[in-house]
Amino acid sequence: MMSDLTPLERLLEPLPTALRAEAARRYARHETVLFERLARLYGGRRDFLPWFCDLMESLGRLHAARPAVLLQLDAERLLQPDWFASQSMLGYSTYVQRFGGNLNGVAERIPHLRELGVTYLHLLPFLRPRAGESDGGFAVASFDEVDPELGSNADLEALTAQLRESGISLCSDLILNHVADDHAWALGAKQGDPLLREFFHTYPDRDMPDRYEATLGQIFPQAAPGNFTFDGSLQRWVWTTFYPYQWDLNYANPAVFTAMICAMLGLANRGVEVFRLDSTAFLWKREGTDCMNQPEAHWLLQAMRAIVDIVAPGVLMKAEAIVATPKLPAYFGSEGNGGAPECHIAYHSSLMAAGWGALAEQNTDLLRAVVRATPALPPSACWLSYVRCHDDIGWNVLLNEAGENGPARPARLARIASFFAGANGSYARGDAFQSSSLDKAHGSNGMAASLTGLESAADTQQTEFALRRLLLLHGLALSFGALPMLYMGDELGMTNDYSYIKRPDRAMDSRWLQRPPFDDSLLALRHDSGSVTGRLFSGLRQLIALRSRHDALAAGAPRTLLPSSDGAVLALMRGPDFLNLSNFSGDSVACDLPEGRWRDGVSGVEVSGKVSLPPWAMLWLERTV
Ligand code: GLC
Repeated sequence: MMSDLTPLERLLEPLPTALRAEAARRYARHETVLFERLARLYGGRRDFLPWFCDLMESLGRLHAARPAVLLQLDAERLLQPDWFASQSMLGYSTYVQRFGGNLNGVAERIPHLRELGVTYLHLLPFLRPRAGESDGGFAVASFDEVDPELGSNADLEALTAQLRESGISLCSDLILNHVADDHAWALGAKQGDPLLREFFHTYPDRDMPDRYEATLGQIFPQAAPGNFTFDGSLQRWVWTTFYPYQWDLNYANPAVFTAMICAMLGLANRGVEVFRLDSTAFLWKREGTDCMNQPEAHWLLQAMRAIVDIVAPGVLMKAEAIVATPKLPAYFGSEGNGGAPECHIAYHSSLMAAGWGALAEQNTDLLRAVVRATPALPPSACWLSYVRCHDDIGWNVLLNEAGENGPARPARLARIASFFAGANGSYARGDAFQSSSLDKAHGSNGMAASLTGLESAADTQQTEFALRRLLLLHGLALSFGALPMLYMGDELGMTNDYSYIKRPDRAMDSRWLQRPPFDDSLLALRHDSGSVTGRLFSGLRQLIALRSRHDALAAGAPRTLLPSSDGAVLALMRGPDFLNLSNFSGDSVACDLPEGRWRDGVSGVEVSGKVSLPPWAMLWLERTV
């Protein structure tokens, strides 16, 4: 039955009286963007207004179900909207199973996280995954249920509460782009439910798929070629950008939008504070394009943000958009989208890849081009910087910076990829991922310690250089001006896990190299200053502690790239009094310092005028006069 209530009344109706006035204020503040973006997307449908009103009622219910402690957190965060950009914020990313066995085991590792100074924990997918291989949980079978192998919904709520008490915010993936082929929506579609079939992009024959394929890219060209999969039950082709068992959702259907925003807010009510919005670039399909970064994908994210700002304003949205540098800023809603806020945080994958590129080339040209192409951000928004993560280092995001258009650009990136695969006597022990030819690069896999030479080091000097390279890359992530995120095991120098090769369902996906189980024997060495692990751990902790002392290292503080007489050196100024001087080469280089006297924050040594940087050395210089 149609209700006569306005959208606002539908939103407020389920709420207790005490929450209504504030909810109405927030609605008034965000209504224009919310309504306007959804009208752009769905306004052409006859049922748009009733759908919008129903959505408001669902949101009102979710708001009413928000626990008091989280309502309190919302109120606090509204008073300090840039809390996550502080120089004391530090992220850590890991698989639940690899780190703690299950959610309770993760809780037992909180002391380790606190010792490092972690304030933000990204747990890779922990919801019930597809039966069988599930792309590390990225094929979700239920958004309402924790994977029974990892615990229960109650365990999740207990973990988020414990983390919160320890000053750590939990970040969860929200896999927006696709669901598993055994998710209830996919099963219903296979059984002939017409409404559920509309949750997906399906085609009776190859006509449309072939037309789309003409301009689509490939995510896993070797392991999962093509973007469409024929489903025998449906007798139709289904859009599957990633693996064939990951069915892309059809956001042209407003029911999908409602279902996904409700899934997000349901998890937020269990205490998840940050959502890593997986594969955000792919949400909207348009023939004749690569179906990435479409304007509609941004409108969807802006509408989601407006909803979060109304219902759960303490929650953050983080874009996982692994796209070329110029396409990245739009994920903050800063440009070209009518100025509405979008995500709070976005992965800076170009910076990450360019840091590795600089190591391989012993030259910082690419890196400096990326730093120059990184614009200042709107208030209360920040980059996420990192050295490694569970995915490959994707090289194609650097095509813009890799030189003039033409075959030299992919060839240059392919040379970098082959370096990390150990070519020509390189120290790196990694794998080239999904490359389609020798002169094109796709990605590189491997744990940071293996890629920087710790795995191959045969003597003390090689070990020393590998350690320096690890600290160099972490120093970049920590001083760039971002929320830096460590990857599980990198703080201890954990190396590649080759066991995936024996599993037929994983052997073709070398991203498993960088997904080893947490090594407690290395953890035990972290305070042993004679061990490699101990030196790395204390080196990292020193940088983390130094960082948190400097306001100039907060994510939003200004950064300036200083000219350098040697291409191997990156000279990154933060504010007027902090300088990261990093030598990305195996030669000693002499550098001119800016005016004044400086002290290296790590060694305490005072310098001025000219300084000599040994191979792969980094100085974190603080101005003393
Ligand atoms: C993201 C994840 C990656 C996964 C893909 C598909 O890129 O980081 O691991 O394979 O999405 O869900």
